[in-house]
Amino acid sequence: MKRISVTDIVAAKNRRKLVMLTAYDYSTARILDECGIDIVLAGDSYAMVGQGHSTTLPATMEGMLMITSSVSRACRRSLVVADMPFLSYQTDLKNARMNAGMFLKQADADAVKVENSWNVRDMIKAIVDIDIPVMGHIGLTPQSVKRMGGYRVQGKKLDSALSLIEQAGELEQLGVFAIVLEAVPSELAAMITKSVSIPTIGIGAGPGCDGQVLVINDLLGTDKDFLPRHAKKYADLHGVIGSAVARFKKDVINGGFPGGKQSFKMDPALLKELKKTLPRGKNEDRQKSGKTPENSINIL
Ligand code: KIV
Repeated sequence: MKRISVTDIVAAKNRRKLVMLTAYDYSTARILDECGIDIVLAGDSYAMVGQGHSTTLPATMEGMLMITSSVSRACRRSLVVADMPFLSYQTDLKNARMNAGMFLKQADADAVKVENSWNVRDMIKAIVDIDIPVMGHIGLTPQSVKRMGGYRVQGKKLDSALSLIEQAGELEQLGVFAIVLEAVPSELAAMITKSVSIPTIGIGAGPGCDGQVLVINDLLGTDKDFLPRHAKKYADLHGVIGSAVARFKKDVINGGFPGGKQSFKMDPALLKELKKTLPRGKNEDRQKSGKTPENSINIL
């Protein structure tokens, strides 16, 4: 099966809504791919939802390459976009090109995502110029959280609204194939969407965008207490996992797990011989010393 291409994504504008989700591991990405999600983003939000940091700033190239390659191995049809982590593209052109290239070369990504536009326009151009597809990201850009003073809705004043419209236009000029609009008033996001010929993908940017993206953990409800205002919980995975783990714990304590179905039997003749061969008391001695016989059965 062939993966969706960036040209397919651009062609979807004004025809159908695009659906994008984050994933950070093989099994989840496989489900998203099977569900026909257009774009799977190996997001630097992993630093928060996967590693427990309070911002995305600690995400590293090494970590992002690892999660991107896991996601890529799972995606047969979905386009894989890798988030470029903080400091992997902001410092200089060579660094930006090399790091962007690593996502395609080492992790089989189809494109990279870069936050902001004003301060990194040269880097975006440098990456696009060596034929690496780039997705832009404006509005609330989490890598700028220290400057923004928190995770706040952007474009609520005239100058910042105008600046976002301008930034989107500039990103299009620079050759990006799509733009994520994060935490922007719906009316402004709809105006930006109409002003560019490439798709916009919203997160907290209302229904007027060309597509929508969510962090997979928010959609699945893995956190019992936290749900950002823009997100919608489609499942209670925290509850599902919690109850499964509690049942497993109970079974282990009560001897209900493993049962016969999950255990492996020895050939009765061999068992008899083993018991005969083993010096009296040896079995008990081994159990006391904590040593267990090597298991040579292939359980897969
Ligand atoms: O890293 C991420 O999850 C993102 C999405 C919020 C678009 O950048």
